[in-house]
Amino acid sequence: MTRVFNFSAGPAVLPEPVLRQAAAEMLDWQGSGMSVMEMSHRGPQFMAIAAAAMADLRALLDVPAHYRILFMQGGAIGQNAILPMNLMRGKGADYVDTGEWSRRSIAEAARYGRVNVAASSEASRYTTIPPRDSWRLDPDAAYVHICSNETIGGVQYQFTPEVGAVPLVADMSSDILSRPIEVSKYALIYGGAQKNIGPAGLTIVIVREDLLGHAMALTPSAFDYKVVAEHDSMYNTPPTYAIYIAGLVFKWLQAEGGLAAMAERNRSKAALLYDFLDATPFYSSPVARDCRSWMNVPFRLADDRLDAAFLAGAEERGLVQLKGHRVVGGMRASIYNAMPIEGVRALVDYLREFAARHG
Ligand SMILES: Cc1ncc(COP(=O)(O)O)c(C=O)c1O
Repeated sequence: MTRVFNFSAGPAVLPEPVLRQAAAEMLDWQGSGMSVMEMSHRGPQFMAIAAAAMADLRALLDVPAHYRILFMQGGAIGQNAILPMNLMRGKGADYVDTGEWSRRSIAEAARYGRVNVAASSEASRYTTIPPRDSWRLDPDAAYVHICSNETIGGVQYQFTPEVGAVPLVADMSSDILSRPIEVSKYALIYGGAQKNIGPAGLTIVIVREDLLGHAMALTPSAFDYKVVAEHDSMYNTPPTYAIYIAGLVFKWLQAEGGLAAMAERNRSKAALLYDFLDATPFYSSPVARDCRSWMNVPFRLADDRLDAAFLAGAEERGLVQLKGHRVVGGMRASIYNAMPIEGVRALVDYLREFAARHG
């Protein structure tokens, strides 16, 4: 068996020890005689798995007691609608436009209420994050929405914006658990699991308790945060296997030293790659230095006619999924928690060789 270095933006690489444990437990989870997929979600075995996953996620992110963790479905795109349905309360909402994913959030929210684009980095072709002092916030907004890491454009907030008393909401799909955050600065955090957490199908929501119970009448009950919270995320059948794998990832994160250790590792991995790209004229990174993502690194070759040869050569070395998103072109290396530094070193070695051969 050969495992590749998988630079996919998501679904993405998972930690090998997690996959090994899941494989070992596939046919018989801890003497139950069945796989986790085959268990009743209301049985004691799965209830224990889900409770442990929630408790471990709470501990990893240091989630305060007055926040609820919800395990939902429908992905972050689902949340783009579920969020305004639950939080808008007949008011408007402020959105900060930093690229493809915030634009998707804005378009969806506008179906449910008034959206004010408080700031946008469109003028820089989404290579920056608008500085906080340029935002035109509505003090009466129901919430302020940001996308903490734009998976496609590769820009990431390197600060937590202060927005006063208005609830701050963040789509953290592609950087949740990559480093410590101060959860209390946010009113709500959401993200799909398939990048830094586990399999697709699970959506994480962390919500301050006082925001529950204000959903619009038309909100499907399975998407009403209060209903989901009251049923401990078991109002409908949850994505059981995805929750189990996420739980194993949380244990792995704890064993690796938690989020402070992840932050160190992710900072080093990103620095290794960006430093090489910056030092080599054959490549370029379009994103402003102080807004560069630690998770998704878009880059270009000086001559895009070499893109196909670059990707084919990478594939031959087991460096896969490096093609950039169709919206921005070029290349993109996603280097989530589960990408080991060896993978980034192998990529940099290949970048160096390819440049020497074609530069
Ligand atoms: C930042 C961000 N938001 C939203 C989404 C959409 O997530 P999903 O496909 O889980 O609905 C993605 C997916 O790639 C993403 O990276």
